[in-house]
Amino acid sequence: MITIKSRREFAKMAKAGAVVSKVHDEIREAARPGVSLDELDAIGAQIIATHGCVPSFLGYLGYPKSLCLSPNDVIVHGIPGDYHLREGDILSVDAGAIFEGFHGDAAFTMGIGEIGADARDLIATTAEAMWAGIREIRKGARLGDVGSAIHDVGSAAGYGVVEEYVGHGIGRQMHEEPQVPNYGTPGKGMKLRTGMALCVEPMFNLGKRHTKVDADGWTVRTADGSLSAHWEHTVALTPDGPWVLTAGEEPLPVEFEEAEAHR
Ligand code: MF3
Ligand code: CO
Repeated sequence: MITIKSRREFAKMAKAGAVVSKVHDEIREAARPGVSLDELDAIGAQIIATHGCVPSFLGYLGYPKSLCLSPNDVIVHGIPGDYHLREGDILSVDAGAIFEGFHGDAAFTMGIGEIGADARDLIATTAEAMWAGIREIRKGARLGDVGSAIHDVGSAAGYGVVEEYVGHGIGRQMHEEPQVPNYGTPGKGMKLRTGMALCVEPMFNLGKRHTKVDADGWTVRTADGSLSAHWEHTVALTPDGPWVLTAGEEPLPVEFEEAEAHR
C-alpha cells in the first residue's frame, strides 16, 4: 500500500529528518582514527533521545543498535562494535529517527583522515548519483526515471551498482511501498504522486556489484572485498516539488494546502 502523507505528517517527518541530520553532523565530527564504532553509536543514540525521538533501527527485526556503521567493504547494515577506526578507512553512517510516529532515514559516507583518490571519487560519485535520483522526483515522474538516473551515474564511472538492496517508501513505517531500486528504465514503473515520501539510497562498489552477508545475518559486504559507499535522503514529494527532509541545510518548502496532499 502506498501511503499519501499530509502536510502535517510531512512536517513530523521533517522533524525526525532534522534530528537525523544532526546525528550526521555530530558523527562527522566525532569519527576520527582511534574512535570505536560503539562510541559513535552511543553518540547517535544520545542525540536521537535528547531531541525527543526514538531510533528507527533499534529493535527493527531484532537489530541491536541505533545506527548502522559500515566501514570499507561493508556496504550497509554494519553493526557498531569494538572496531576502532583507522586513518584511511571510509565509513558509511546510516541513521533513522521517529518523531511522533513518523520516520526520517538518511546515510552518508566519509573518509577517516586522509583517504585515497579512488575512495574519494567513489564517495563523491555516490552522492552525486543520489542527487541525480532526487532531481527526478516530481509529480508524474516514474520510479524508472529515478533508478535509471542513479544507475547511469554509477555505471558511467565504472562502479558496481548494488541491486539486492534498494530505497523505499517511508512514513509511519521505515520501510513502506514502493521499493526504489537503483536501476530502471526511464518512463517505466510506478508514477510518483504528491504526498509520497521516498528514501533514495544508492550503494556503489569500487569493484563489482555483488554482495555477501556475514554470519551475523546483517553485515552486507562487497563479494570482492572492494570499498563501498552509501548515500541516502528521505524526500517528500510536495505540490512544489521534492522536499529533502533529512538535509539540515535545505530551506523549508513553500507552504502547500493539506487538501492537495490528500487524494
Ligand atoms: N537505513 C536502512 C534502510 O534504509 C535501514 C537499516 S536496517 C536496520 O533500509 F535494521 F538497521 F534498521
Ligand atoms: Co533507508
